Amino acid sequence: HRLAVLISGAGTNLQAILDHIAAGDLPATVSLVLSNRPAANGLAVARDAGVPVVVIDHRDYPDRETFDRAMIERIDAHGADTVVLAGFMRILSAPFVAHYRGRLINIHPSLLPRYPGLDTHARALAAGDAEHGCSLHFVTEQLDGGPLIARAAVPVHENDSVETLSKRVQQQEHRLYPLVLRWRAEGRLQLTDQGVELDGEPL
Ligand code: GRF
Repeated sequence: HRLAVLISGAGTNLQAILDHIAAGDLPATVSLVLSNRPAANGLAVARDAGVPVVVIDHRDYPDRETFDRAMIERIDAHGADTVVLAGFMRILSAPFVAHYRGRLINIHPSLLPRYPGLDTHARALAAGDAEHGCSLHFVTEQLDGGPLIARAAVPVHENDSVETLSKRVQQQEHRLYPLVLRWRAEGRLQLTDQGVELDGEPL
């Protein structure tokens, strides 16, 4: 099972995925790591693991669709059974999303449908939520709104800052993403017209 991992930043989810592959817990290979930011630290993570990397800087393209077409070309040249958004901070165009329908997964740092979009940890703190967390979902045209695959909750502590809370959430991200990708790699997780199915049963 080939994974193309799209990043923009630190790459800690990418690291977790690579660690699980190395440990034999995730029967997959990372065929490509693609970053839209030349300075993304995740590129070093990929290089250290000997994974092919490519930078496609969105600032070099006149518009979103041209940028997305360039990404499709590179992703498909390397082969991808699943395209993994791991801290990829660009909104994807409708043609890109349609091209990878049922093969495109995102992680979002909130308990969706709560807090789509940015600054999720600050928003959870400001709302006084007792619980926060992360969600994995198939990507559709609706931003952070595609069919849910799995969520993990963490408690919010009284003295939490964005930093302490995001760390707690990220620990769950690093556990949950490799698990969901394992379901994919084992052929157990699909998006059908009926919705998300695990082992042929609706989730
Ligand atoms: C994660 O918190 C992810 O949920 C969010 O961006 C962050 C990426 O972190 N969309 P990393 O690059 O995997 O370290």
